[in-house]
Amino acid sequence: MNVRKRAAMVGLGGQATGDHLPGLAQCHLAELAGVCDIDAGRVAAVADAHRVPGFTDVEQLLREVRPDFAIVAVPHHAGQKVVASCAEAGVHVMKEKPFATDPHEAAELATLCDKACIELMVTVQRRFHPVYPAALGLLEQIGAPYLVEGRYTFRCPDPAAGWRGRAKLAGGGCLADMGYHLIDLLVWYLGLPDRVLATVSAAAAPEAEYDAEDTALVHLAYDSGLYGSLLVSRSAGPKTERLAITGPHGTLAVERGAVRLTDPAGQVVESLVREPAWPCPSAVLIDRFCRVLDGSAANPSGPAEHLPHAAFLAAAYASVATNRPADPKEFLA
Ligand SMILES: NC(=O)c1ccc[n+]([C@@H]2O[C@H](COP(=O)([O-])OP(=O)(O)OC[C@H]3O[C@@H](n4cnc5c(N)ncnc54)[C@H](O)[C@@H]3O)[C@@H](O)[C@H]2O)c1
Repeated sequence: MNVRKRAAMVGLGGQATGDHLPGLAQCHLAELAGVCDIDAGRVAAVADAHRVPGFTDVEQLLREVRPDFAIVAVPHHAGQKVVASCAEAGVHVMKEKPFATDPHEAAELATLCDKACIELMVTVQRRFHPVYPAALGLLEQIGAPYLVEGRYTFRCPDPAAGWRGRAKLAGGGCLADMGYHLIDLLVWYLGLPDRVLATVSAAAAPEAEYDAEDTALVHLAYDSGLYGSLLVSRSAGPKTERLAITGPHGTLAVERGAVRLTDPAGQVVESLVREPAWPCPSAVLIDRFCRVLDGSAANPSGPAEHLPHAAFLAAAYASVATNRPADPKEFLA
């Protein structure tokens, strides 16, 4: 008999209500056992709607519900403490990106998970979507890459809103937040660059007060000769998402749920499209995490995979501060 694992949802904001709670309702291997948020009103509403116990204190939730794992979707500055509480209680964690806000925190969390023998899987959805691993398989067809162009943009109405508007709380701005997905693809497909030179701005809403960048441009270079850039903005519509890698035999471009291989003249050689592009990403992640916990599937997004992301971000922000290129490898803790 298939016994569902018991999941706790920690943080009941946009990502929990928009993705993970619907994901828990649709997945096959887990069920919601309890919820937690520091906002008592949110706890009451969600606990009532899902008929599960609700808590404003994560340690009490872990003690009383004793879940198999927690899905943690809290603001970036609150992540470390919540994961530490889970580790202390021996509860596995499916952690919303980012893994950590800086390389030091990333190293501490990786050690903590290791010592507590808990699994932690970071929810970078593209790693679990059939098209993005397929793109990796097609990459060798373009020859040695010499150009990479990434772009991820959309327009949020208020870049100053909440914790996302404050760099200290968010661990940066759009680069650390939505840019994390683009950095994940870059690191997964091509590895850490040898140099980054970043420029950021928080100028899209001059009347508002915020210091977390709404727009970032990162030039990057590899010793192999590959170079290019990532442009990330949460203040530039329409929504676009694309990573294109060019080599002597063509270009591989991944967009939302589609990959296209073109020859050097731009003619399509082959393409893969998933329809619908994103059926229910969270349900897939939750079921996969349950299989990781059973030992029947590998975890492609554990702490070790995310140390480079923290290093990339630290190098990019160091480059902004010094106005000079930085080597992400020097920021690997
Ligand atoms: N993977 C994706 O595509 C994606 C998309 C959106 C958000 N996210 C991530 O999800 C996380 C949450 O983002 P969001 O948009 O839901 O933010 P949000 O501000 O809408 O919600 C965060 C919630 O966490 C609660 N909270 C704060 N501190 C807490 C604590 N110590 N314990 C329990 N609850 C606490 C807040 O009260 C709030 O309800 C972030 O890490 C964000 O980067 C990921």
